[in-house]
Amino acid sequence: MKVIIKENYDELSKETAKIIKEAILTKPNLVLGLATGSTPIGMYQELIQMYEKGTLDFSKITTFNLDEYFDISTDHPQSYHYYMRKNLFDETNINPKNIYIPDGTAKNVKAFCRDYERAIQETGGIDLQILGIGSDGHIGFNEPGTSLNSRTHLTKLAESTIEDNSRFFEKKEDVPKSAITMGVQTIFEAKKIILLASGEKKAEAIAKTLEGPITPQITASVLQQHPNVIFILDKKAASKLKKYG
Ligand code: F6R
Repeated sequence: MKVIIKENYDELSKETAKIIKEAILTKPNLVLGLATGSTPIGMYQELIQMYEKGTLDFSKITTFNLDEYFDISTDHPQSYHYYMRKNLFDETNINPKNIYIPDGTAKNVKAFCRDYERAIQETGGIDLQILGIGSDGHIGFNEPGTSLNSRTHLTKLAESTIEDNSRFFEKKEDVPKSAITMGVQTIFEAKKIILLASGEKKAEAIAKTLEGPITPQITASVLQQHPNVIFILDKKAASKLKKYG
């Protein structure tokens, strides 16, 4: 477990983009796992700048997003499909054929989840997975109590997540109540993982994740056992750590 503590959000974003760039330069057909939410936005902006400068080529990579709200159309401005188009895909040369995002309109959810897992396997597995973390310690939308052996599935969002994410919607009632998410085990199987956390609001979850027991109550805590994980935190997110702070 490697922990990198950066002065602020800007530096965290730059550091992460640099690692992703190196990974793509080393393996142009990298399989990259992606997250949404506020935390990776700065990192996406850095990646777009690298593309615009001509120092990074995304044409051969494949991407798998962690999650999508259910039941929401891909054109909904709060859908993660829309978010990814706006914050990365439309601004770079990622091949649309190589983009995978859970389908928040799937009619046969079980079959969809099975196919998503199979698609990941068929690429040879995720080389590098980017994660954020919920204030309740979730990764993907694996809320407290989710089995650490879980695979891609439909899940109910915790009340705290609905509250946290209501800032993106007009009102709290508009936040979807469920989502399709990669499972904890799906995430854990990525060859390398980078978890990003910024701000005071994540400090408690980060302390529990890194220094607490491994428990389904904090699904991110499973990462303690991952052979190749980097936590990139800003000072505020790291502020409650005892060993690393
Ligand atoms: C998003 C995802 C979530 C977020 C987490 C933090 O794809 O999987 O686990 O990473 O909820 O969200 P932000 O970054 O908005 O605080």
